Amino acid sequence: MVKEALVNQIVCIIYNSIMFNPINRLAAILCLLVTFNSCKQATDKNAQATNTTDKQWWKKAVVYQIYPRSFKDSNGDGVGDLNGITSKLDYIKSLGINTIWLNPVYSSPNTDNGYDVSDYRNIMKEFGTMADFDNMLKAMHERGIKLVMDLVVNHSSNEHEWFKKSSSSRSNPYRNYYHWWNAERGKPPYRYSLFDVNHDAWKYDSLTNAYYLHYFSVQQPDLNWENPKVRQEVYSIMKFWADKGIDGFRMDAYQFAAKDTTFPKFPVNGQNFMKYYAIGPHLHDYLKEMNHEVYSKYNLMSVAEGAGNSLQDAHDMVDADRHELNMAYAFDGVGVAQANGYSLIDFKNVFSRWDSAFAKKGWLSIFLANHDQARLVSRFGNDSEAFRVISSKMLNTFLLTMRGTPYVYNGDELGMTNAGFTKVSDYNDVALLNEYQHLKQTGGDLNKYLQSAGKENRDNSRTPFPWNNSTNAGFTTGKPWIGINPNYKTINAAAEEKDPNSCLSYFKKVIRLRKDNPVLVDGKYTLLDKSNPEVYAYTRELNGKKLLILLNFKSKTATANTGIDLSKAKLLLGNYPATTKSGKLRPYEALVYQL
Ligand code: GLC
Ligand code: CA
Repeated sequence: MVKEALVNQIVCIIYNSIMFNPINRLAAILCLLVTFNSCKQATDKNAQATNTTDKQWWKKAVVYQIYPRSFKDSNGDGVGDLNGITSKLDYIKSLGINTIWLNPVYSSPNTDNGYDVSDYRNIMKEFGTMADFDNMLKAMHERGIKLVMDLVVNHSSNEHEWFKKSSSSRSNPYRNYYHWWNAERGKPPYRYSLFDVNHDAWKYDSLTNAYYLHYFSVQQPDLNWENPKVRQEVYSIMKFWADKGIDGFRMDAYQFAAKDTTFPKFPVNGQNFMKYYAIGPHLHDYLKEMNHEVYSKYNLMSVAEGAGNSLQDAHDMVDADRHELNMAYAFDGVGVAQANGYSLIDFKNVFSRWDSAFAKKGWLSIFLANHDQARLVSRFGNDSEAFRVISSKMLNTFLLTMRGTPYVYNGDELGMTNAGFTKVSDYNDVALLNEYQHLKQTGGDLNKYLQSAGKENRDNSRTPFPWNNSTNAGFTTGKPWIGINPNYKTINAAAEEKDPNSCLSYFKKVIRLRKDNPVLVDGKYTLLDKSNPEVYAYTRELNGKKLLILLNFKSKTATANTGIDLSKAKLLLGNYPATTKSGKLRPYEALVYQL
């Protein structure tokens, strides 16, 4: 008992010490996975015949991530929906992006906003119908926009038919679709749950006198990937959507799918416990099988959330000759931000290390925000009145001038800020609500927790999209499911569309710059002025074309010491109205030169 408690404590300490964000446990563990050890349109199978270049369309993609619940409500129930998205496709098209990643829209009781799927072949009632989906997909394709869907298969909802059957009796044919531990074996070895009130991933179920495993909430039981039937079910679901013509999958929490199912006790010193917990020995077997069964038969983009424990793990998941996935989505970059800020040197080192590791082989995702993170400008820039616009433009310049496929989270093109939530009742996030309960039960500091949630919690980025300055920001005519950011009166799409100096107008320019300059997609990246703590400077080079990017990450004037003579350089883009060629950068200034 004492030993168990000790292990427990060590595991918790490791988590807490590495967790840059004690609120957002999920992002933390994904980051931990990386840092712990080393720090058609394919409606038809004819797509197989497409040439290599077309098959690599995802390299040229700029991905716009839509959080459907908060994007646009079409029927006044306060919840965003598919028809809402369809009604805004012209706006999305006007951004210049060519790919949408849509968070889950499958049937779900919504414990975790769609990340608890109860029917993988149906649309969540609140979001509309399959006909609405088909219509949306068609409308996207008509505009040259591809659709990447979230695939949530590390776990299902406890309301999925599979789980209902699996939990009904020990002899049910679906029993092995999930991980069960019969109680006569004693208590199962401790496993951490990211979203559980007691941090315990085993839930006792009296009906069959057994525990089931849930790495996330109690309502999200983990699927047993060692069962070939489960894997075939997933491939068949993937084909169902691929046959509808979708263009890719983002595989949610997939690293957790492969785990050591003998469930050995965590080592007493807590070291290397991740190797028991995730990224199990069969991860690549599953991915290869999935590629063989599904990806190789369609022209799909494929990306898993998280990129393993090391650069090598990431390569093993995405190098073309591995026949697994297209691109890595690594958390090191987003993990640089701490509650009290971050070091630009660390930031540059992380992005440079990943770029150089992937310079010759493999492909990366470039992102600094998503639906599990606080807002881009609040976390990596400066959301004060004086600097919000300029720093948001600078960050978007970074995202769109790096090598890899950029992902932009909806609202970041407007420079949206954190929500300003202060009370627990402001929040909807299952992770936050359960952790709050946990702290309450264990005598934790609730005020401190809410204070840090105000900065770091993922609900910060889930507030409704501000379309205009009318009631409820033009998002809904009803009561929004979560609070609207009060600054929507000024930060909204309609206002920014009219203003040539807005974040939105600038965002469109950077996207155009990337489109016009293939060097920004494939070109070699070289970090300059490495030890400069204020300026991020780099070049991108391809076929004799060379661009220089200078970004001041600070609120004071800074100097870039690149040694490059700018007198003959041509300025392609800057986030300030007029610019000199002195190498001096104003607060959060971003400059892109052609050399
Ligand atoms: C992923 C999702 C997150 C979700 C979790 C459980 O990390 O991005 O939003 O809560 O998995 O499915
Ligand atoms: Ca609605």
